[in-house]
Amino acid sequence: GNRKSIRNEGDVLAPIREAAHALLTTPIPVAFPTETVYGLGADATRSDAVRGIYAAKGRPSDNPLIVHVCDLTMLRRLLKPDWTEEDPDPIPPIYHPLISKFWPGPLTILLPLPEPSPLAPEVTAHLSTFGARLPASPLARSLIALTNRPLAAPSANASTRPSPTTAQHVRDDLDGRISLVLDGGPCDVGVESTVVDGLSTPPAVLRPGGVGVEEIRGVGKGWERVVLAWGEVVKGVPRAPGMKYKHYSPKARVVLFERGAAQGTKGRMIEEEVGKLREEKTVGIIRTGGWEFAGGSLQVSGERREVIGEGGVVVVEGKTIVPGKEVKLLDVDLGQDVKGVAHGLFAALRALDGLGADVIYVEGVEDRGEDLAAAVMNRLRKAASEIRA
Ligand code: TXA
Ligand code: MG
Repeated sequence: GNRKSIRNEGDVLAPIREAAHALLTTPIPVAFPTETVYGLGADATRSDAVRGIYAAKGRPSDNPLIVHVCDLTMLRRLLKPDWTEEDPDPIPPIYHPLISKFWPGPLTILLPLPEPSPLAPEVTAHLSTFGARLPASPLARSLIALTNRPLAAPSANASTRPSPTTAQHVRDDLDGRISLVLDGGPCDVGVESTVVDGLSTPPAVLRPGGVGVEEIRGVGKGWERVVLAWGEVVKGVPRAPGMKYKHYSPKARVVLFERGAAQGTKGRMIEEEVGKLREEKTVGIIRTGGWEFAGGSLQVSGERREVIGEGGVVVVEGKTIVPGKEVKLLDVDLGQDVKGVAHGLFAALRALDGLGADVIYVEGVEDRGEDLAAAVMNRLRKAASEIRA
């Protein structure tokens, strides 16, 4: 009866304590869940620990890391080590309305790096600013609080792979290179945080993410003028260094159909592509338009089988006959709600990879520039080797 649910089944905090201990005593990083994607954490104040992140990921060292804090006091003491409640807030006023609206949550803000810096120089890749984030995940915040250190953490994937949204994704990429993974189940949001620079005039969004630009604009107080700067390059250097790298790519070739290209055709364009294939035998399709295969050449025949992948992605396996050959079809329907698409996108790419897809056709969502769909399409355009507009 009810007694079982309240029986003490062991020390529920043990995994968090073990993770905190590893973070404080070794240079090997620890993976932990956040509401966006899993992070690969290290004590941001220790150079040897931060170098451990770059080594485990195979990440270029000119790409700065985000610093995660458990509360505003921890952030204020990074900016001013002897800060107390009586002192003025060292966080620049421009950020106050964003912090009260979106923190804890999927938003990263750029702050001036104090002199002397409390952070290992490897965290910021020698820039004069650092990115800070207060994650919504209680498990993430508990880990940071118990460690009592700010944690530098990029996404916990191997460099260039899709970001991880389950503990298994992390193990698939980094097993043997990390101390442990705290398992918090699949991440809610599924794409990374929005990175904003409020130190520049006008303020800028450097990476679209979990918080929509339209929501940021709606805050007012200077943010109504926010510019989209994720393609922006200053003196040969992208404003967010991470945006220049190949990213989010599965092993399979990814072909992206912009919404305009796929819309209203019920997948006819994808059917034509499959018809033209010469070598590829296993074809993944990620749909977001709500259509079903019907009438065209992409008739699914033979036995259909459902495979529930990591992160709850359902892959329907079938066979299809196209002129001259038979191909194996792996079909994922992410639904038409953009939140669901963001939530399942990286897991779908990884699941199709795991099932041996040679090529993955992805139907894009409508990018209106300033909502979650913009973040989804930003990731997809980076993952794709070909785009059909
Ligand atoms: O949701 C997220 O932000 C996840 C979770 C783990 O918190 N983290 C994440 O980290 O996505 P990462 O390292 O994969 O991406 C960090 C992005 C990169 O594009 C990087 O260039 C940018 O933030 N960034 C970090 N610090 C910066 C700085 N000081 N100036 C400009 N861009 C910065
Ligand atoms: Mg990343």
